[in-house]
Amino acid sequence: MQNTSYTNEKPMKIAILISGRGSNMEAILRHIAEGRLRGVTCVGVLSDRADAGGLAKAKEFGVPALFLDPGPKKTVLDPEKEAAYARQVQAWGADLVVLAGFMRVLKEPFLSVWGGRALNIHPSLLPKFPGLDVQRRAIEAGETQSGCTVHWVDRGVDTGAILGQRTVPIQPGDDEKALAARILVEEHVLYSDILGRLADGRIPLPGRPR
Ligand code: GRF
Repeated sequence: MQNTSYTNEKPMKIAILISGRGSNMEAILRHIAEGRLRGVTCVGVLSDRADAGGLAKAKEFGVPALFLDPGPKKTVLDPEKEAAYARQVQAWGADLVVLAGFMRVLKEPFLSVWGGRALNIHPSLLPKFPGLDVQRRAIEAGETQSGCTVHWVDRGVDTGAILGQRTVPIQPGDDEKALAARILVEEHVLYSDILGRLADGRIPLPGRPR
């Protein structure tokens, strides 16, 4: 484990991977820009979709933002494309990878380099409801609360060690959309909170990637 705490002068460099609107990414970039997330800088944003709204938003914050071809498959990257993702993040000199609505499962070409140094946010109280359609599934299961989880990325789907959670109530009459919106508000708080704790050493960062 590395105990360094990062400062604004020597910040923890994050690269963010997105697939869509990028509201979690935007919240992180806004917190950095407003000085509310000390010791963290974003060195670049990658998207597997050329039309991801988050790409333009990242550029508004002056952050390099690229679409990288994912290959023909829907849920995973092609192995050589995945290696290109890992290389781009390395080329930016990132310390940590932040998945923020990145809709593909990462495999060995990426995780052999970045495993243990990649975070994900998920809109359920893991270990309950990993995977997709989780707000609908939580409502259908009769849960009275849900929330969001930030966890390390491992080789499973939403199975890595949990770093933090925030909880919201599920109210009578909630549909998937209403619950997702309530959870998203908490996601925007949680991700920056965890990044701040990693940067100042309250949560230990594993050793540098190989
Ligand atoms: C969020 O709900 C996140 O938890 C999930 O995908 C959604 C991404 O939203 N993994 P956004 O692109 O950050 O707005």
